Amino acid sequence: MTRLSVNLNKIALLRNSRGSNYPDLIQVAKDCERFGAQGITVHPRQDERHCKFADLPLLKEACTTEFNIEGFPDKHFLDAVIKVKPHQCTLVPDDPNQLTSDHGWDTIARKEFLTEIISELKKNGIRVSLFIDADTKLIEGAAKVGADRIEYYTGPYAKNFPANPEAAVKEIKESCAVAVHAGLGINAGHDLNLENLKYLKDNLAQLDEVSIGHALICDSIYLGLENTIRLYLNKLA
Ligand code: PXP
Repeated sequence: MTRLSVNLNKIALLRNSRGSNYPDLIQVAKDCERFGAQGITVHPRQDERHCKFADLPLLKEACTTEFNIEGFPDKHFLDAVIKVKPHQCTLVPDDPNQLTSDHGWDTIARKEFLTEIISELKKNGIRVSLFIDADTKLIEGAAKVGADRIEYYTGPYAKNFPANPEAAVKEIKESCAVAVHAGLGINAGHDLNLENLKYLKDNLAQLDEVSIGHALICDSIYLGLENTIRLYLNKLA
């Protein structure tokens, strides 16, 4: 089974744009779960332009499925994650000013940094996933630093999918076998949508979770949130 974790960044962005609590992030999280989502993801950044750190305990309390917090592990982020204890923490190597995540970890160059942080998170009972490019050396590195899972950065897959789906999925498909052999769970996220999701799922030996935000929230403007979540779930069935 592949779990659908809905990334609520865009809901938080909309709420923040007016300084009020509308839409209510916590209610939307509950509604996503009611409509069938099997997880909720947020990405608190230093500037809090999406989810705010104050949202985290409320989301943890509200979530009845799996709560995933993703982000760059600076001290402020790690303290917040360890306090809230989500089911999963996805570590992402992005700069504070980055528009969106656009590459995975260099698990070889950052070996010591990651080993220490992952060990601390796991001591606190939090499953750790590392955002990663489809590169076997970096994936083997992810296993060595103690990650439980990897999350494939699927931006390049999504970009190349319309022209040539087979070529687009090749590196992820091949490196996935290495990751599974190394005992890693497999997540994927970024730019996944109703067109490219099923092909990715069908081509991977294992896919434990996808985390989808931008396209899903855009689709829901036209299709409604309940219907949209059902359509994404159908692609993963
Ligand atoms: N995974 C990570 C690590 C991300 O940073 C994001 C975007 O916040 C996503 C998944 C979801 O990407 P998208 O919004 O394109 O679905």
